[in-house]
Amino acid sequence: MRTKRENFGGRMAVIAAFAGSAIGLGNIWRFPYLVGEYGGAAFVLVYILASIFLALPIFYAESIIGRRSQSNAFGAFRVLAPKGKWHYFGFITVLAPLLILTYYNVVGGWSLQFLFKSLAFGFNGSEDMTGYFGRFISSGWAPLLTHGLFAIVVAVVILGGVKSGIERLTKWTMPLLFVLILGIVVYSVCLPGAKAGVLYLARPEWSGLSWQGVSAAMGQAFFSLSLGMGTILTYASYMNKKDSIFQTGWSTAAADVMFALLAAFAVMPAVFAAGIDPGSGPGLIFESLPYTFQQMSLAIPVISGIVAILFFFSVLMAALTSAISTLEVGVAYLTEETRMSRKKATLLLSGIIWAIGVVWSLSTGPWSDVTVFGVGLFDAVDFFCSNVLMPFGGLLFTIFVGYRMPKPDVYDEFTNGGTLRWSRRLYPAFRFLVRYVAPVGIVLVSLTPYIF
Ligand code: PFF
Repeated sequence: MRTKRENFGGRMAVIAAFAGSAIGLGNIWRFPYLVGEYGGAAFVLVYILASIFLALPIFYAESIIGRRSQSNAFGAFRVLAPKGKWHYFGFITVLAPLLILTYYNVVGGWSLQFLFKSLAFGFNGSEDMTGYFGRFISSGWAPLLTHGLFAIVVAVVILGGVKSGIERLTKWTMPLLFVLILGIVVYSVCLPGAKAGVLYLARPEWSGLSWQGVSAAMGQAFFSLSLGMGTILTYASYMNKKDSIFQTGWSTAAADVMFALLAAFAVMPAVFAAGIDPGSGPGLIFESLPYTFQQMSLAIPVISGIVAILFFFSVLMAALTSAISTLEVGVAYLTEETRMSRKKATLLLSGIIWAIGVVWSLSTGPWSDVTVFGVGLFDAVDFFCSNVLMPFGGLLFTIFVGYRMPKPDVYDEFTNGGTLRWSRRLYPAFRFLVRYVAPVGIVLVSLTPYIF
């Protein structure tokens, strides 16, 4: 049974929704610590190149499948390749984002906790912040509670639907996020001792970049644009025929890269100003920044308290607008492929996702000694999603668009029936990238960590 589909209401709404999915914890939490781990500016340059030549063509491929089929990630392949077996693979791209959400919600819960803490001016020096993050995530119940709260907020937005839920939220949060992060960058680069952090981001040290770093930069470009997960496909299926896939793609990628750079310039100078090691890993914004805020509060208490609130509010909003895009993939599938109502689908999936998330949340605390191949459960699921499922989905979409879809259909979607001048000119480049560069790049991203 096919329910009536909603559509986004216009160009700005489309771009805000896609940017909402792309700009998330990947930009503000993951990117700064990867930059710190893999040697600063050189990593940033590889990331930018990978976003343009590898990630953007995959983004276009996914969008083309979504808008052409006007269907969810599973149904899309049944519409476009009715006789093939592609929809079985499509089913994996329905499950994969839901698995991502099981641990993404957990990190969303952490950001909620840090927002609460900053609202209570908890970083003002009265409490020793060293080890606070570790104590919080290993405390058992507290992260389960914030994880549950975050999951409820995600469900409430999705219950609202495409227009009154997703569109209403992303339209105001996206511009606001840019204003907030710009303000935080200004604060951060003005701190005494921040110059070293700025130079670290501006001067490439090629010797510090390993093959692992190149692979991580490509993987980050992937994760950051929400590729290979059916989210872009699902959002594109809500685009009108007159909206431009070409323009949406480059605008989203530009906003995404720009936000990642701003996040790095917000975090690194503050980290250097506080004399913290930039390569301290995933805890960077949750461990080092609170410490930075605490130190700064000695000199400028009110301002640093307010900046802490704004920073963790930004983290939370970025996480929320990305999380909703992953839940929407499953909800679109259930409402279109079964007779389930939107409400039932949202509640059912949110409940299951939260329950699985409990395992990942406990794995950073009471269950921390449970390991798979030598790593904790949380890291294992993150690795499986980013290094196995996302590249698999990306490969599937590029091969389908590059080799299986009729060429005129691809051209039609990319250029809006030949009416868009720039997309017409760039079409041959897109076709080359999607057929050759992207698939090879994906295989490289997936295999490099095992070869070197
Ligand atoms: N792009 C999001 C971020 O950078 O945080 C993460 C993400 C969202 C990945 C949705 C995958 C996805 F399907």
